[in-house]
Amino acid sequence: MLIWVANSLTLGRLTAAPQIGSELTILLWTWPFGQRTALRKCSEFFDIRDCHITANRSWYHKADAVIVHHRDVCNNRESLPQGPRTPSQRWIWFNLESPSHSPNLGFMDHLFNLTMSYRRDSDIFTPYGWLEVLSQPQNFSIPAKSKLVAWAVSNWNPACYRFKYYEELKKYIHIDMYGSRHMPLPWDRQDSILSQYKFYLAFENSLHEDYITEKLWNNALGSGTVPVVLGPSRENYERFLPPDSFIHINDFPTPQGLAQYLQELDKDPVRYQRYFQWRTWLKPSEETPWALHFCKACRALQMTESYQSIPTLVKWFQ
Ligand SMILES: *[C@@H]1O[C@H](CO)[C@@H](O)[C@H](O)[C@H]1NC(C)=O
Ligand SMILES: *[C@@H]1O[C@H](CO)[C@@H](O)[C@H](O)[C@H]1NC(C)=O
Ligand SMILES: *[C@@H]1O[C@H](CO)[C@@H](O)[C@H](O)[C@H]1NC(C)=O
Repeated sequence: MLIWVANSLTLGRLTAAPQIGSELTILLWTWPFGQRTALRKCSEFFDIRDCHITANRSWYHKADAVIVHHRDVCNNRESLPQGPRTPSQRWIWFNLESPSHSPNLGFMDHLFNLTMSYRRDSDIFTPYGWLEVLSQPQNFSIPAKSKLVAWAVSNWNPACYRFKYYEELKKYIHIDMYGSRHMPLPWDRQDSILSQYKFYLAFENSLHEDYITEKLWNNALGSGTVPVVLGPSRENYERFLPPDSFIHINDFPTPQGLAQYLQELDKDPVRYQRYFQWRTWLKPSEETPWALHFCKACRALQMTESYQSIPTLVKWFQ
C-alpha cells in the first residue's frame, strides 16, 4: 500500500540548499479569484528562507517568479503578464480546478516554467488535503450519529454524472440534501451538522486523476463522517488515503448495491467503526490556506534546480 501522507513532500522540515544573495521575490499576478488573502512567512511552514511574496505589480521586473492563477487570466490573453521578462524569471502556472473547468489552456502555451496544481506530478504539488502522521496513537472518538446520509451541493447540474448517480441512489436510501437549493449549511456550523451523519457523499464535479477536493477532505473527513466517493478510481484514492477509510461507488455494480451496503453498515456498529481505525495513527489536514500554496512555491524555487517546463499544458492537464 502506498499512501501519500504529509512528509518531506509537504510539511516536513526539509532544509533547502543554502542560497547566495537576497531573498527571492514572488509576484502573485492576481489574488486567487480576485480576493486578497492573508500571506504568511514561509519559515512558519517550512525550514527555509522566507520569500518576499507580493501582489504589487510594480515588482514585475524584479520578481524571481510570477505565480499566475489560471482562473483569473483564462478568459482573456491580455490579462496575462505582457511585459518582457528577465532571462531568469520563472513563471508558475497555478490551478486547483479540474481540466473540465479550466478553459483556454491553449493561451498558456510556451509561457510557463513550472506547474502548480493538485496533480501529483506537478512541479509544485498543492493538493486540497493530505494525511498527517500522529506522533503518538490516539483513541479517536466517533462523533455521535443520529442520521444516515448527507450531501451538500452548490452547483446543481442535472446532466452531470454525479446527479444521475444521486437520482438512482436516492430511490433506495434516504439522502439529506444541503446547499443553495436545499437545507442551509452555514459555514460555521458545517462540521457540527455533517458530523451527525454516518456517511457523506463526497461526489466530485468531474472525474480526473488526483482531483480529490475539499468535498472529501473538509466536508467528509473533517467532520468525522465516512466518505462515499465518486471521482477518480479507487486505486487513485488509495494513493492519498487508506483503503478502509472510504467507500467507493465503483465497489458496487449499482447504486442499489451501494444503498444496501450503507444500510447494512448502519445496523452493524462494529463494521462501521472499522472505517475509523486508520485514525489511530493518521489525521486529515486542516483546511489549506492559500499562503501555504504560495510558500510551497517559495520552497520549490529555492530547491529545484530543474523542472519539467511543459510547453503545452493541454496535453498534460486533462
Ligand atoms: C507597490 O510597490 C512600489 C515599489 O515598491 C511602491 O512604491 C508602491 O507604493 C506599492 N504600491 C502599493 C499599492 O503598495
Ligand atoms: C521559462 O519558459 C519560457 C517559455 O518556455 C522560456 O522562454 C524561458 O527561458 C524559461 N525560463 C527559465 C528561467 O527557465
Ligand atoms: C485507548 O483505549 C484503550 C481502551 O480503553 C486503552 O487501553 C488504551 O490505552 C487507549 N490508548 C490511548 C492511546 O489512549
